[in-house]
Amino acid sequence: MNAKRLYINTIGCQMNVYDANLIAGVLVPLGYSGTDSVDSADLAVVNTCTIREKAEQKAFSFLGRLAKIKEANPALIVAVGGCVAQQEGQAILRRMPHVDLVFGTQAIFRLPEMVRRIEATRCRIVDVRMTETLDADRPVSGPLTDGQVAAFVTVMRGCDNFCTYCVVPHVRGREASRHPDRILDEIGSLVSKGVREVTLLGQNVNSYGNKEGLCSFAQLLERINAIDGLNRIRFTTSHPKDLSEELIHCFGRLPKLCRHIHLPVQSGDDTILHRMNRNYTTDGYLDKIKRLRASCPDIAVTSDFIVGFPGESDRQFQRTLDLIETVRYDGLFAFMYSDRPNAPAAALSGKIDEAVKKERLQMLLNLQEAITREKHAAMVGQIYRVLVEGPSRNGQPLDDGETSPERRWSGRTSSNHIVHFSTPQTTSAEKEVLTGEFADIMIEGAFAHSLWGRVVDGSVGSTPEKGDASIAA
Ligand code: 5AD
Ligand code: SF4
Repeated sequence: MNAKRLYINTIGCQMNVYDANLIAGVLVPLGYSGTDSVDSADLAVVNTCTIREKAEQKAFSFLGRLAKIKEANPALIVAVGGCVAQQEGQAILRRMPHVDLVFGTQAIFRLPEMVRRIEATRCRIVDVRMTETLDADRPVSGPLTDGQVAAFVTVMRGCDNFCTYCVVPHVRGREASRHPDRILDEIGSLVSKGVREVTLLGQNVNSYGNKEGLCSFAQLLERINAIDGLNRIRFTTSHPKDLSEELIHCFGRLPKLCRHIHLPVQSGDDTILHRMNRNYTTDGYLDKIKRLRASCPDIAVTSDFIVGFPGESDRQFQRTLDLIETVRYDGLFAFMYSDRPNAPAAALSGKIDEAVKKERLQMLLNLQEAITREKHAAMVGQIYRVLVEGPSRNGQPLDDGETSPERRWSGRTSSNHIVHFSTPQTTSAEKEVLTGEFADIMIEGAFAHSLWGRVVDGSVGSTPEKGDASIAA
């Protein structure tokens, strides 16, 4: 079989990153292996996102680039997958003659058959069928990269919440949860290949299993916590209304569950929350944060925010800033509201000027930056245990002007802080030894989005617990 080259451009969330891996996996039997060079590809897949207008524009601009590449290489097969494919379907083929295949979010497992047909007959195909249940015969995860320490695992898909700004229920379909046995099989297989940390993915993992009556998400976590050889569990994303007491207690109870929760609040104003159809109030949200911190005092909390939702007044926006001050997040993502197809908020009056949205976004980011700076400063001088993910891809010097021949690494704390650190220059054999190990790092300083420090002598090992709670230096 001739080696064929597959180029995948993934835009959007971790779910798409996971899907990209599955796409690569299902195409292996057809002889495809990954390439980073789109110019030399035989098959180019654009794994699209439509959550915000900008993401969709990014997909179409890349597809424009592919049209030119295909002029030079007419044999190139161009496939569009993900949420824009689901949303636009046939319209993409009509508008873009260079596209051969449009496949929706639930068509990944039918991909090999479709690609085979296109290779043989050069036909054009659209498959945006939504199958109500998760495919029973889905493969157990895609290929791993060399020395991969952390991996994503989808536990559920789709969303039944219908937040009024959101396109997800329309492009990812209704909630469906995978059977716990399949999830455990997948994680077991990842661990046998060297993975130490898994991030469980779903649009709303907190409602895992409800519909199917499988087990609760907390019970699933408990089973995953018992897997030998697995050291860390993370999950994303959570809906505040579904965050149960049982799950809150997991943070204090399950040793492998990382001390971080991403709990998107979107707005600090109750009227806006109601119009977003979020089904909680700011008081209810703050109460959950309080209980999370009671269960696990050093839990890191991050969130998503939308600024400039239709009708948002200055006072309502101020309440969002107040909420940020109250919670003091460890990090956040903030977005300017944009209308999305089929999302009911698109029909609301009181649209906010782009300039006002930009200004609010900047104010919000400035506030969080100040909080992050203070929080990072408080970490300096403390020791944190990190899971080493590999050599640091961040080439920044560890010190001003430092040029010593050291090797730089990066890892994450349980709280999901990225830490870059150095060790004396090592051989490539030692490189493999450190990747996937735990190490205590003395934090010496902070960048805007990460920290740096030095490894504590003799602390490298396979045990996650040692020094896992931060130790005052
Ligand atoms: N406009 C702006 N931001 C949005 N998000 C979802 N839909 C929109 C929209 N129409 C944001 C929310 C969500 C994150 C993934 O994207 O904050 O949590
Ligand atoms: Fe979208 Fe709301 Fe579902 Fe999240 S919970 S995916 S924001 S509809």
